[in-house]
Amino acid sequence: MGSLLENQVAIITGAARGIGAATARLFAREGAKVVVSDRDELPARDVASEIRSEGGDAIAVSGDITIPAFPAHLIEESIAKYGRLNILVNNAGYTWDGMLHKMTDRQWQAMLEVHATAPFRLIRAAAPYMRDAAKDEQAFGRKREPRCVINISSTSGLHGNIGQANYSTAKLGIVGLTKTVAKEWGAFGVRCNAVAFGYIDTRLTQSKEANESIDVEGEQVALGIPSQLRDMIQLMIPLGRAGTVEEAAGALLLLASPYAAYINGHVLEVTGGMGI
Ligand SMILES: NC(=O)c1ccc[n+]([C@@H]2O[C@H](COP(=O)([O-])OP(=O)(O)OC[C@H]3O[C@@H](n4cnc5c(N)ncnc54)[C@H](O)[C@@H]3O)[C@@H](O)[C@H]2O)c1
Repeated sequence: MGSLLENQVAIITGAARGIGAATARLFAREGAKVVVSDRDELPARDVASEIRSEGGDAIAVSGDITIPAFPAHLIEESIAKYGRLNILVNNAGYTWDGMLHKMTDRQWQAMLEVHATAPFRLIRAAAPYMRDAAKDEQAFGRKREPRCVINISSTSGLHGNIGQANYSTAKLGIVGLTKTVAKEWGAFGVRCNAVAFGYIDTRLTQSKEANESIDVEGEQVALGIPSQLRDMIQLMIPLGRAGTVEEAAGALLLLASPYAAYINGHVLEVTGGMGI
């Protein structure tokens, strides 16, 4: 157990598996009280109870982050349990790939909803407990608590990617949102940064042949990438391999920790050197 995030309260969306779950575990090991949020209730509860069984503090608050009322509900539940909020990680997401000339409006809209609109709503709902709370501390000369937002972007957003017009647009959109929050809330000491991952080994990047899918309003959206493409990507990574979820979580801890106290509005590329 470390103490980098001692007594801080963190909400992490998409924390039932993959990068979000690894981040929840790591933040808890560093002393944070963690709200594990995900559309998939059972695995989210498992992550929270695993954290508690290891001596940490966590609850699960499940729901689909794209439902307009859910972000406010998530903030309310978190405040009801822990009374404050220090770290907000907008991580929930998936891919719905297709070539642009065949992409439907629904496919396009779904990516904007989950990767840009939902984070916007969640940050807005968090404003009273992050922006306003920090402003009050400043106005009344009280000790300032650490507070930050971390948004998850992608190299697809920064550089574009074949078959991902929808995802790339949303993942670059969140960079604009990140920099705007950094400018609006930086005045009160609330930092906002983004992490653009390259190729992290999760359900999203596993072999398509594994036949994983996500249910989007009754439609099964296939996840994963063809194994041939997976092999090719690895050749383009100077470190020669995909990143692990623990390594991905490490980058988030770095940005949430006191060592990043002067890092604001930054987009950290976590790629093993891909694309340099
Ligand atoms: N894996 C990579 O290489 C990679 C690269 C770049 C960016 N990312 C981003 O990292 C984030 C995490 O992805 P991951 O690779 O860990 O995938 P993952 O599928 O392992 O985990 C994503 C989690 O988000 C949840 N989720 C999806 N839609 C949701 C919704 N509407 N409401 C609530 N929860 C929802 C899923 O249930 C899942 O538990 C995503 O934003 C993804 O776009 C991943």
